[in-house]
Amino acid sequence: MAKGRFDDPMTEYSRPGQPLAEIAAYDALAFLLEAGADEAIADEAVDRLRRIVAQPAESRSAPAMPGTPANRAMPVATSGAAEPPMAASEAVATARQMARAAGDLPALEVALAAFDGCALKSTATRLVFSDGVPGSRLMVIGEAPGRDEDIEGRPFVGRSGQLLDQMLKAIGLDRTTVYIANVVPWRPPGNRKPTAAEVTLCRPFLDRQIELAAPELILMLGGAATSALLSRDEGIMRLRGHFYEIGAGDRIIPAFASLHPAYLLRAPAEKKLAWRDFLAIKARLNQIAV
Ligand code: URA
Repeated sequence: MAKGRFDDPMTEYSRPGQPLAEIAAYDALAFLLEAGADEAIADEAVDRLRRIVAQPAESRSAPAMPGTPANRAMPVATSGAAEPPMAASEAVATARQMARAAGDLPALEVALAAFDGCALKSTATRLVFSDGVPGSRLMVIGEAPGRDEDIEGRPFVGRSGQLLDQMLKAIGLDRTTVYIANVVPWRPPGNRKPTAAEVTLCRPFLDRQIELAAPELILMLGGAATSALLSRDEGIMRLRGHFYEIGAGDRIIPAFASLHPAYLLRAPAEKKLAWRDFLAIKARLNQIAV
């Protein structure tokens, strides 16, 4: 195995005469940690639906919306990924009804917190709804909360958030002049990419969030957010640097695709592309203002 930051604990743990199988197990664990795993997901699927149904009604997080199917959790698949399609379509319908019923952003946040249709909620620490100022001219949309966001409850507060702040500052913006959200509001286990099913389940809330925040321009950060919002499967390198359109209620809002700050941290040479993108955003905002 290549020398990495988990080599030291390994030498600390392994003892002369320690069985090879044990050393191999530590080795595998070190590999998983290095790859970003930070949650243990059991081999057996957990039937969370049964657990929630078994709870007394008053102990559930929120009542189902009047006239809608029960607001319920989906069973978690072995991989920590999505759920059976039948239950998913019911959950999407519930999400649509709940999102539509929310008359403002605080009500939407309450509705989302009460929505048990997305399995990500059960592995995340908390809901990460938004940061910044609703009604700002620019709305920034990322992929999903990471570890820091999951702890703090605000989007983009970790290393990529710090880079995002610097990028916004470079075009004269900050968290008092933008509104920030994610395609999914709960952290996927181990920071994996949200599945298409999870994106679909959360989408009605995001659509309503965009509608209520009413930005003049949307900035989509990274391939996952861009593909989810545009329903396109080309890579981000093809999609970035261009304006698209997103429908929100009865409005069509221009949306620009750029690189995710987490990617820029891994590939700093690409910052020149992001800089070009951010200048295009600045120019467009100036144009809209005229
Ligand atoms: N990456 C995202 O896409 N969103 C966050 O909130 C944090 C990191």
